[in-house]
Amino acid sequence: MSIHCATAVAHPNIAFIKYWGNRENTLRLPSNGSISMNLAGLFTRTTVQFDPSLESDQVILNGTTPPYPTIQRITSFLDIVREMAGKQTPARVVSENNFPTGAGIASSASAFAALGLAASQAAGLKVTEPQLSALARRGSGSACRSIPGGFTEWLTGSGDRDSFAVTIASADHWKLYDCIAILEVDHKPVGSTQGHSLAATSILQSARVADAPRRLDICRHAILTKNFENLAEIAEQDSNLMHAVMMTSSPPLFYWAPTSLNIIKNVPTWRKENLPVFYTLDAGSNVHLICPEPYQDQVIKRLMDIPNVQNVLIAPPGGPASLAQG
Ligand code: PMV
Repeated sequence: MSIHCATAVAHPNIAFIKYWGNRENTLRLPSNGSISMNLAGLFTRTTVQFDPSLESDQVILNGTTPPYPTIQRITSFLDIVREMAGKQTPARVVSENNFPTGAGIASSASAFAALGLAASQAAGLKVTEPQLSALARRGSGSACRSIPGGFTEWLTGSGDRDSFAVTIASADHWKLYDCIAILEVDHKPVGSTQGHSLAATSILQSARVADAPRRLDICRHAILTKNFENLAEIAEQDSNLMHAVMMTSSPPLFYWAPTSLNIIKNVPTWRKENLPVFYTLDAGSNVHLICPEPYQDQVIKRLMDIPNVQNVLIAPPGGPASLAQG
Protein backbone atom coordinates (compact mmCIF):
# COMPACT_ATOMS: atom_id res chain seq x y z
CA MET A 1 0.00 0.00 0.00
CA SER A 2 1.35 3.40 -0.97
CA ILE A 3 1.44 6.01 1.82
CA HIS A 4 -0.93 8.15 -0.30
CA CYS A 5 -3.71 5.57 -0.31
CA ALA A 6 -5.73 4.08 2.55
CA THR A 7 -8.97 2.17 3.10
CA ALA A 8 -11.11 2.41 6.23
CA VAL A 9 -14.29 0.80 7.51
CA ALA A 10 -16.79 2.38 9.95
CA HIS A 11 -20.20 1.45 11.34
CA PRO A 12 -23.27 3.67 11.52
CA ASN A 13 -24.65 4.31 15.02
CA ILE A 14 -28.03 4.67 16.71
CA ALA A 15 -28.38 7.44 19.28
CA PHE A 16 -30.20 6.79 22.57
CA ILE A 17 -29.76 10.47 23.52
CA LYS A 18 -30.02 12.44 20.28
CA TYR A 19 -28.03 15.28 18.77
CA TRP A 20 -30.37 17.84 17.23
CA GLY A 21 -29.26 21.43 16.61
CA ASN A 22 -25.86 23.09 16.58
CA ARG A 23 -24.62 25.95 18.69
CA GLU A 24 -22.21 26.61 15.78
CA ASN A 25 -23.14 25.32 12.34
CA THR A 26 -19.86 25.47 10.36
CA LEU A 27 -17.86 23.52 12.95
CA ARG A 28 -20.90 21.35 13.80
CA LEU A 29 -20.59 22.07 17.51
CA PRO A 30 -23.70 20.50 19.06
CA SER A 31 -26.26 22.19 21.29
CA ASN A 32 -26.25 19.11 23.54
CA GLY A 33 -24.24 15.97 24.22
CA SER A 34 -25.40 12.62 22.85
CA ILE A 35 -24.94 8.88 23.45
CA SER A 36 -25.11 6.10 20.86
CA MET A 37 -24.29 2.51 20.03
CA ASN A 38 -22.28 1.53 16.95
CA LEU A 39 -24.03 -0.98 14.70
CA ALA A 40 -21.96 -4.08 13.87
CA GLY A 41 -22.58 -5.81 10.58
CA LEU A 42 -23.55 -2.56 8.85
CA PHE A 43 -20.62 -0.58 7.50
CA THR A 44 -19.20 1.91 5.03
CA ARG A 45 -15.90 1.01 3.39
CA THR A 46 -13.98 3.90 1.87
CA THR A 47 -10.71 4.18 -0.05
CA VAL A 48 -8.96 7.54 -0.43
CA GLN A 49 -6.03 8.04 -2.76
CA PHE A 50 -4.31 11.40 -3.14
CA ASP A 51 -3.24 11.61 -6.77
CA PRO A 52 -1.38 14.62 -8.24
CA SER A 53 -2.48 13.64 -11.77
CA LEU A 54 -6.11 14.50 -10.94
CA GLU A 55 -7.49 17.97 -11.67
CA SER A 56 -10.12 17.80 -8.93
CA ASP A 57 -11.52 15.33 -6.40
CA GLN A 58 -13.22 12.29 -7.93
CA VAL A 59 -15.95 10.58 -5.93
CA ILE A 60 -17.68 7.25 -6.54
CA LEU A 61 -20.36 6.25 -4.01
CA ASN A 62 -21.94 2.82 -4.31
CA GLY A 63 -20.68 2.49 -7.86
CA THR A 64 -21.91 5.83 -9.22
CA THR A 65 -20.97 9.51 -9.29
CA PRO A 66 -23.11 11.24 -6.61
CA PRO A 67 -24.95 14.56 -7.16
CA TYR A 68 -22.84 17.73 -7.14
CA PRO A 69 -23.77 18.89 -3.57
CA THR A 70 -22.53 15.54 -2.22
CA ILE A 71 -19.21 15.92 -4.06
CA GLN A 72 -18.92 19.48 -2.75
CA ARG A 73 -19.51 18.30 0.83
CA ILE A 74 -16.80 15.64 0.46
CA THR A 75 -14.39 18.13 -1.14
CA SER A 76 -14.94 20.61 1.73
CA PHE A 77 -14.19 17.81 4.18
CA LEU A 78 -11.06 16.75 2.26
CA ASP A 79 -9.97 20.43 2.28
CA ILE A 80 -9.86 20.25 6.09
CA VAL A 81 -7.63 17.14 5.89
CA ARG A 82 -5.45 18.79 3.20
CA GLU A 83 -5.05 21.88 5.35
CA MET A 84 -4.05 19.74 8.37
CA ALA A 85 -1.48 17.91 6.18
CA GLY A 86 -0.27 21.04 4.37
CA LYS A 87 -1.05 19.64 0.93
CA GLN A 88 -3.28 20.51 -2.01
CA THR A 89 -3.38 17.23 -3.93
CA PRO A 90 -6.79 16.15 -5.25
CA ALA A 91 -8.11 12.77 -4.14
CA ARG A 92 -9.98 9.81 -5.57
CA VAL A 93 -12.65 8.58 -3.14
CA VAL A 94 -14.40 5.26 -3.62
CA SER A 95 -16.99 4.38 -0.99
CA GLU A 96 -19.56 1.64 -0.51
CA ASN A 97 -22.19 0.79 2.09
CA ASN A 98 -22.99 -2.85 2.74
CA PHE A 99 -26.54 -1.89 3.75
CA PRO A 100 -29.19 -1.12 1.14
CA THR A 101 -28.96 2.44 -0.17
CA GLY A 102 -32.25 4.28 -0.24
CA ALA A 103 -33.51 2.13 2.64
CA GLY A 104 -33.43 5.23 4.78
CA ILE A 105 -30.58 4.16 7.06
CA ALA A 106 -28.59 7.31 7.81
CA SER A 107 -25.22 6.62 6.27
CA SER A 108 -23.55 9.98 6.91
CA ALA A 109 -22.14 8.84 10.28
CA SER A 110 -20.36 5.76 8.91
CA ALA A 111 -19.51 7.66 5.69
CA PHE A 112 -17.64 10.54 7.34
CA ALA A 113 -16.06 8.31 10.00
CA ALA A 114 -14.61 6.04 7.28
CA LEU A 115 -13.68 9.02 5.08
CA GLY A 116 -11.96 10.82 7.97
CA LEU A 117 -9.87 7.80 8.91
CA ALA A 118 -8.98 6.85 5.31
CA ALA A 119 -8.20 10.44 4.27
CA SER A 120 -6.08 11.28 7.32
CA GLN A 121 -4.11 8.05 6.94
CA ALA A 122 -3.65 8.57 3.18
CA ALA A 123 -2.48 12.14 3.87
CA GLY A 124 0.17 10.78 6.26
CA LEU A 125 -1.33 12.48 9.33
CA LYS A 126 -0.70 11.07 12.78
CA VAL A 127 -3.93 11.63 14.71
CA THR A 128 -5.22 10.39 18.06
CA GLU A 129 -8.71 8.89 18.39
CA PRO A 130 -10.18 12.13 19.85
CA GLN A 131 -8.59 14.17 17.04
CA LEU A 132 -10.02 11.77 14.46
CA SER A 133 -13.44 11.91 16.12
CA ALA A 134 -13.35 15.74 16.06
CA LEU A 135 -12.35 15.61 12.38
CA ALA A 136 -15.22 13.22 11.48
CA ARG A 137 -17.60 15.62 13.30
CA ARG A 138 -16.81 18.31 10.70
CA GLY A 139 -18.33 16.08 7.97
CA SER A 140 -21.43 15.02 9.89
CA GLY A 141 -21.93 15.55 13.62
CA SER A 142 -22.99 12.01 14.44
CA ALA A 143 -19.92 10.66 12.56
CA CYS A 144 -17.75 11.58 15.57
CA ARG A 145 -19.57 8.85 17.52
CA SER A 146 -18.64 6.20 14.91
CA ILE A 147 -14.87 6.65 15.47
CA PRO A 148 -14.56 5.08 18.97
CA GLY A 149 -16.01 1.60 19.50
CA GLY A 150 -19.07 0.25 21.31
CA PHE A 151 -21.27 2.65 23.28
CA THR A 152 -20.00 6.18 22.80
CA GLU A 153 -20.69 9.64 24.19
CA TRP A 154 -20.12 12.85 22.23
CA LEU A 155 -18.90 15.49 24.70
CA THR A 156 -20.15 18.93 23.66
CA GLY A 157 -16.76 20.48 24.44
CA SER A 158 -15.89 24.15 24.40
CA GLY A 159 -14.75 24.31 20.78
CA ASP A 160 -13.44 22.43 17.74
CA ARG A 161 -10.70 20.53 19.57
CA ASP A 162 -12.58 19.14 22.54
CA SER A 163 -15.93 18.35 20.91
CA PHE A 164 -15.43 14.64 20.20
CA ALA A 165 -16.79 11.23 21.20
CA VAL A 166 -15.34 8.69 23.63
CA THR A 167 -16.16 5.06 24.40
CA ILE A 168 -18.19 4.72 27.61
CA ALA A 169 -18.57 0.92 27.32
CA SER A 170 -17.03 -1.51 24.85
CA ALA A 171 -19.03 -3.41 22.22
CA ASP A 172 -18.96 -6.64 24.25
CA HIS A 173 -20.21 -4.92 27.44
CA TRP A 174 -23.90 -5.53 26.68
CA LYS A 175 -25.45 -7.61 23.88
CA LEU A 176 -28.24 -5.29 22.79
CA TYR A 177 -29.73 -5.62 19.31
CA ASP A 178 -30.98 -2.83 17.08
CA CYS A 179 -33.82 -4.29 14.97
CA ILE A 180 -34.42 -1.67 12.28
CA ALA A 181 -37.86 -1.72 10.69
CA ILE A 182 -37.45 -0.49 7.11
CA LEU A 183 -40.76 1.01 5.97
CA GLU A 184 -42.14 1.58 2.52
CA VAL A 185 -42.16 5.35 2.04
CA ASP A 186 -42.03 7.35 -1.16
CA HIS A 187 -40.77 10.75 -0.04
CA LYS A 188 -37.19 11.83 0.66
CA PRO A 189 -36.89 13.31 4.18
CA VAL A 190 -35.38 16.74 4.87
CA GLY A 191 -31.66 16.15 5.46
CA SER A 192 -30.29 16.46 8.97
CA THR A 193 -27.92 19.34 8.09
CA GLN A 194 -30.97 21.46 7.17
CA GLY A 195 -32.90 20.05 10.14
CA HIS A 196 -30.23 21.09 12.67
CA SER A 197 -30.46 24.69 11.45
CA LEU A 198 -34.23 24.70 12.11
CA ALA A 199 -34.02 23.28 15.64
CA ALA A 200 -33.70 26.68 17.34
CA THR A 201 -36.95 27.87 15.68
CA SER A 202 -38.88 25.53 18.00
CA ILE A 203 -39.79 27.00 21.39
CA LEU A 204 -39.24 23.50 22.81
CA GLN A 205 -35.56 23.26 21.82
CA SER A 206 -34.24 25.35 24.75
CA ALA A 207 -36.07 23.13 27.27
CA ARG A 208 -34.83 19.99 25.50
CA VAL A 209 -31.22 21.25 25.56
CA ALA A 210 -31.42 22.48 29.19
CA ASP A 211 -32.58 19.03 30.35
CA ALA A 212 -29.99 17.10 28.28
CA PRO A 213 -27.43 16.62 31.13
CA ARG A 214 -30.11 14.81 33.18
CA ARG A 215 -31.00 12.48 30.31
CA LEU A 216 -27.32 11.86 29.52
CA ASP A 217 -26.62 10.91 33.17
CA ILE A 218 -29.56 8.47 33.29
CA CYS A 219 -28.63 6.94 29.93
CA ARG A 220 -24.91 6.57 30.72
CA HIS A 221 -25.69 5.02 34.10
CA ALA A 222 -28.28 2.65 32.57
CA ILE A 223 -25.71 1.45 30.02
CA LEU A 224 -22.95 1.00 32.60
CA THR A 225 -25.24 -0.95 34.95
CA LYS A 226 -27.12 -2.73 32.11
CA ASN A 227 -30.44 -1.43 33.42
CA PHE A 228 -32.69 -2.03 30.41
CA GLU A 229 -35.85 -0.52 31.94
CA ASN A 230 -34.16 2.79 32.71
CA LEU A 231 -32.49 2.87 29.30
CA ALA A 232 -35.83 2.17 27.60
CA GLU A 233 -37.63 4.94 29.46
CA ILE A 234 -35.02 7.64 28.88
CA ALA A 235 -34.32 6.73 25.23
CA GLU A 236 -38.02 6.79 24.29
CA GLN A 237 -38.46 10.10 26.11
CA ASP A 238 -35.42 11.54 24.33
CA SER A 239 -36.62 10.39 20.90
CA ASN A 240 -40.07 11.86 21.55
CA LEU A 241 -38.51 15.16 22.70
CA MET A 242 -36.42 15.43 19.52
CA HIS A 243 -39.43 14.70 17.32
CA ALA A 244 -41.50 17.23 19.29
CA VAL A 245 -38.84 19.85 18.45
CA MET A 246 -38.86 18.76 14.79
CA MET A 247 -42.67 18.95 14.59
CA THR A 248 -42.75 22.43 16.15
CA SER A 249 -39.96 24.00 14.05
CA SER A 250 -40.66 26.61 11.36
CA PRO A 251 -41.28 25.03 8.94
CA PRO A 252 -42.30 21.91 10.85
CA LEU A 253 -40.62 18.59 10.08
CA PHE A 254 -42.68 15.40 10.26
CA TYR A 255 -40.49 12.34 9.87
CA TRP A 256 -42.91 9.69 11.11
CA ALA A 257 -44.94 7.64 8.65
CA PRO A 258 -48.30 6.14 9.76
CA THR A 259 -46.53 2.78 10.22
CA SER A 260 -43.87 4.42 12.45
CA LEU A 261 -46.64 5.50 14.84
CA ASN A 262 -48.30 2.10 14.57
CA ILE A 263 -45.06 0.46 15.79
CA ILE A 264 -44.50 3.10 18.51
CA LYS A 265 -47.97 2.39 19.88
CA ASN A 266 -47.42 -1.38 19.86
CA VAL A 267 -44.19 -1.28 21.89
CA PRO A 268 -45.71 -0.66 25.38
CA THR A 269 -48.14 -3.54 24.76
CA TRP A 270 -45.27 -5.83 23.82
CA ARG A 271 -43.43 -4.80 27.00
CA LYS A 272 -46.53 -5.70 29.07
CA GLU A 273 -46.32 -9.13 27.41
CA ASN A 274 -42.78 -9.44 28.86
CA LEU A 275 -40.87 -8.58 25.70
CA PRO A 276 -38.12 -6.10 26.75
CA VAL A 277 -37.93 -3.63 23.87
CA PHE A 278 -37.93 0.14 23.26
CA TYR A 279 -38.21 2.38 20.21
CA THR A 280 -36.14 5.27 18.93
CA LEU A 281 -36.38 7.16 15.61
CA ASP A 282 -33.87 9.39 13.82
CA ALA A 283 -34.54 11.87 11.00
CA GLY A 284 -36.57 9.37 9.02
CA SER A 285 -39.56 7.05 9.28
CA ASN A 286 -37.65 3.83 10.07
CA VAL A 287 -38.16 2.62 13.61
CA HIS A 288 -35.21 1.27 15.59
CA LEU A 289 -36.36 -1.29 18.16
CA ILE A 290 -33.72 -2.07 20.77
CA CYS A 291 -33.84 -5.29 22.79
CA PRO A 292 -31.38 -7.42 24.77
CA GLU A 293 -30.31 -10.87 23.62
CA PRO A 294 -32.14 -13.34 23.18
CA TYR A 295 -35.30 -11.37 22.29
CA GLN A 296 -34.25 -10.21 18.81
CA ASP A 297 -36.04 -13.02 16.94
CA GLN A 298 -39.33 -12.25 18.69
CA VAL A 299 -38.97 -8.54 17.88
CA ILE A 300 -38.24 -9.29 14.21
CA LYS A 301 -41.24 -11.62 14.00
CA ARG A 302 -43.60 -9.04 15.50
CA LEU A 303 -42.27 -6.34 13.19
CA MET A 304 -42.66 -8.47 10.07
CA ASP A 305 -46.33 -9.02 11.01
CA ILE A 306 -47.00 -5.26 10.75
CA PRO A 307 -48.28 -4.10 7.34
CA ASN A 308 -45.84 -1.88 5.36
CA VAL A 309 -42.74 -3.17 7.15
CA GLN A 310 -40.57 -4.00 4.15
CA ASN A 311 -37.60 -5.54 5.88
CA VAL A 312 -35.87 -5.70 9.27
CA LEU A 313 -32.11 -5.17 9.58
CA ILE A 314 -30.46 -6.34 12.77
CA ALA A 315 -27.26 -5.14 14.44
CA PRO A 316 -25.52 -5.80 17.79
CA PRO A 317 -22.98 -3.30 19.21
CA GLY A 318 -20.09 -2.58 16.81
CA GLY A 319 -16.41 -1.77 17.22
CA PRO A 320 -14.45 1.36 16.29
CA ALA A 321 -13.63 2.68 12.81
CA SER A 322 -10.62 0.78 11.55
CA LEU A 323 -8.13 0.63 8.69
CA ALA A 324 -8.60 -2.16 6.15
CA GLN A 325 -6.85 -3.63 3.12
CA GLY A 326 -7.60 -1.61 -0.04
O1 PMV B 1 -24.93 13.72 11.99
P1 PMV B 1 -26.19 14.25 11.40
O2 PMV B 1 -26.06 15.67 10.96
O3 PMV B 1 -26.70 13.35 10.29
O4 PMV B 1 -27.33 14.27 12.53
C1 PMV B 1 -27.86 13.12 13.13
C2 PMV B 1 -29.14 13.44 13.77
C3 PMV B 1 -29.92 12.26 14.31
O5 PMV B 1 -29.62 11.07 13.64
C4 PMV B 1 -31.42 12.56 14.13
C5 PMV B 1 -29.69 12.10 15.82
C6 PMV B 1 -28.37 11.50 16.24
O6 PMV B 1 -27.88 11.89 17.30
O7 PMV B 1 -27.85 10.61 15.54
